[in-house]
Amino acid sequence: MGLVPMRQILDEAAKGGYGVGAFNVNNMEQIQAIMEAANETHSPVIIQASRGALKYSKMIYLKKLMEAAVEEYPHIPVALHLDHGNSPETCKLAIDLGFTSVMMDGSLDESGKVPNSYEQNVEVTRRVVEMAHPLGVTVEGELGCLGGIEDGHGAGLSDSETADHLTDPAQAEDFVAKTGLDALAVAIGTSHGAYKSGRKDPKTGEVLPPALAMDRIHEINKRMPDCHMVMHGSSSVPRELVEIINKYGGKMPGTFGIPIAEIQDGIKHGVRKINVDTDSRLAMTGAIRKVLFEAPEKFDPRDYLKPAREAMKEVYIARMKAFGQAGHATDYKQMTLDEMKERYTAKV
Ligand code: G3H
Ligand code: 13P
Ligand code: ZN
Repeated sequence: MGLVPMRQILDEAAKGGYGVGAFNVNNMEQIQAIMEAANETHSPVIIQASRGALKYSKMIYLKKLMEAAVEEYPHIPVALHLDHGNSPETCKLAIDLGFTSVMMDGSLDESGKVPNSYEQNVEVTRRVVEMAHPLGVTVEGELGCLGGIEDGHGAGLSDSETADHLTDPAQAEDFVAKTGLDALAVAIGTSHGAYKSGRKDPKTGEVLPPALAMDRIHEINKRMPDCHMVMHGSSSVPRELVEIINKYGGKMPGTFGIPIAEIQDGIKHGVRKINVDTDSRLAMTGAIRKVLFEAPEKFDPRDYLKPAREAMKEVYIARMKAFGQAGHATDYKQMTLDEMKERYTAKV
């Protein structure tokens, strides 16, 4: 076993009062680093692939790598999740590929760039729930829009526009009831990528932490204590990782991430899934740059991919400990999609 519905991982995290990192992958080294980190810290994990990752890996390669991961570590509960699905068709494709969870990001239209109306979001998310639950597959939806557009996801909202697209807690209650989803991604002022803050100290020009509306999470948790919330754009963008990149020829000025303490506050108030991609990209890039800078004669990919894998593993271990999932891999009996299917059917 090993592959479980994401809903089970989130339910167990809620029972234990911890959060679970959802790490984006595109290649073998990332998957191996996540699995080694999960094995060493005894953590359940969520591994997620974006549409871009599916395209890059031609789907079948990622699928086979995931099968290998689960086969190597059958005692680790792993959910395989589609990140930012843009349509029911994309979600169906992922389900057919063997994903145990999908995100229908109905906050934006199919292009992934223009905000949908609330009604459109409800409609498209509900359709995916109707398709996925009879198969035991978990569904994440999103209400409100993240800021930025750095990696191609997002409406490219300015800081002030982002403030207008934060998740409304009353609407969230209606959204969850109307769609029947399993996990709700909230917009609280985070954005994807390494530049999460448009704020600067007017005197020094220094970049300030992004302004987060944690009160929205607190309020949603008060209204719906059983709702599993998801924080996107939650890389912490550690200064030391950016410094390595810059020291060895990179150019990344003015980066800023989400402080771990804010994420931990979210976890205390119902956040169960924390999306992290950028931190792993930074660790990998820094390690590769370092090797190639210090030993320009090297050309065997293993010489730089091994340190890259190690650097990513360190990040994953740190996040697994900080989010609290460490130590919980064998707390529960892993569920199959069929068992989850029965649970959904029994509820109706
Ligand atoms: O949602 C954002 C993730 O970081 C995935 O990014 O579309 O570049 O793979 P990507
Ligand atoms: P980061 O860019 O902060 O890692 O966020 C990733 C994410 O939210 C993927 O959906
Ligand atoms: Zn995201």
